[in-house]
Amino acid sequence: MAYIEFKDVNKSFGDNHVLKNINLSVEKDSFVTLLGSSGCGKTTLLRSFAGLEGIEGGKIMLGGEDITNKHPRERNVSMIFQHYSLFPTMTVYNNIAYGLKIKKLSKDKIKEEVKAALEAVELLDKMKSYPSQLSGGEQQRVAIARSIVTRPKVLLLDEPFNAIDAKLRKELQLKIKEIHKKYGMTSIMVTHDQDEAMTMSDTIHFFKNGNIEQSGSPLDLYMNPRTSYVASFMGNYNIYQPEIFSKITSGKYSGSKTTAFRPEALSISDINKEKAQGEVYNFSGEILDIIPQQNVARFIVGVGDSKIFADTIIDQLSKFKKGQMVNLSIGKNKILYY
Ligand SMILES: Nc1ncnc2c1ncn2[C@@H]1O[C@H](COP(=O)(O)OP(=O)(O)OP(=O)(O)O)[C@@H](O)[C@H]1O
Ligand SMILES: [Mg+2]
Repeated sequence: MAYIEFKDVNKSFGDNHVLKNINLSVEKDSFVTLLGSSGCGKTTLLRSFAGLEGIEGGKIMLGGEDITNKHPRERNVSMIFQHYSLFPTMTVYNNIAYGLKIKKLSKDKIKEEVKAALEAVELLDKMKSYPSQLSGGEQQRVAIARSIVTRPKVLLLDEPFNAIDAKLRKELQLKIKEIHKKYGMTSIMVTHDQDEAMTMSDTIHFFKNGNIEQSGSPLDLYMNPRTSYVASFMGNYNIYQPEIFSKITSGKYSGSKTTAFRPEALSISDINKEKAQGEVYNFSGEILDIIPQQNVARFIVGVGDSKIFADTIIDQLSKFKKGQMVNLSIGKNKILYY
């Protein structure tokens, strides 16, 4: 049996059926992500697990125990919220110590645990500061320290890096994973950022309209998205209706299915070079734009009225220029059909 199980979980707000018979299992010590667009029910699912939201059918199990009707405090679950939720009138130390005081630990023990948590997020020197004296990233690190200090069995993270700049975001992602391992926690994170989900997760559950559309490893979701909606979320797939892809391929494609392929699955070459042979589709177009993205160069190529994304490693960037005509080819076995 899995460590955490949602069984036929339903939840509505008025006539808005937000969680539609959710069945989801989470293995012990794993890091899982709920990925999906705004309003699809991610926060509601986390809140229902934490006991902050009642459910209307189904049950929630933790370590073999039915916790559906347990008080939030009895669940041994800690949540980092989508919006900062530090106590503004308490110092960093007291913010973190709060949960331990409620548990009536000794003063010395509290001191020891708070220091360990602050060390984990590298904020020992800010112990006496107030939240308003900290940057957004520092506040979020305090929120992390506060949620791990009670050594919860399960850590819930609701878009924990929302207001944080890209560099610090990367650092905090690694930090959280490190803490997750070190403290031996099972973690469920909510995000709408596919890169973040890919970086951090053992398993991703892709949410759409209160249903789980697909579950799997990051690589699995990336390589084998089950629907074009998942494909559009994962890895910037090029997705075309059948008649559009037929136009792109000058009629070579005559199927009736929507086609999807990843930008890095395309080959790009100078228009004067020989075209690729074999089981491929070739098409030519003009480079409309070139966008460097970390170690990848993304070419936006106009083919007829359509735009196609083609990625290469970054050192290919200088080989091509904006306005240049190029050949693109895609292996037929690289195309997914929906
Ligand atoms: N307390 C509430 N009362 C009424 N409706 C609510 C309440 N909380 C959430 N909802 C509705 O439930 C749906 C799901 O909300 P939820 O917060 O779970 O979405 P989400 O996936 O976390 O979105 P986001 O990515 O924007 O945070 C939305 O339509 C929202 O308006
Ligand atoms: Mg949310």
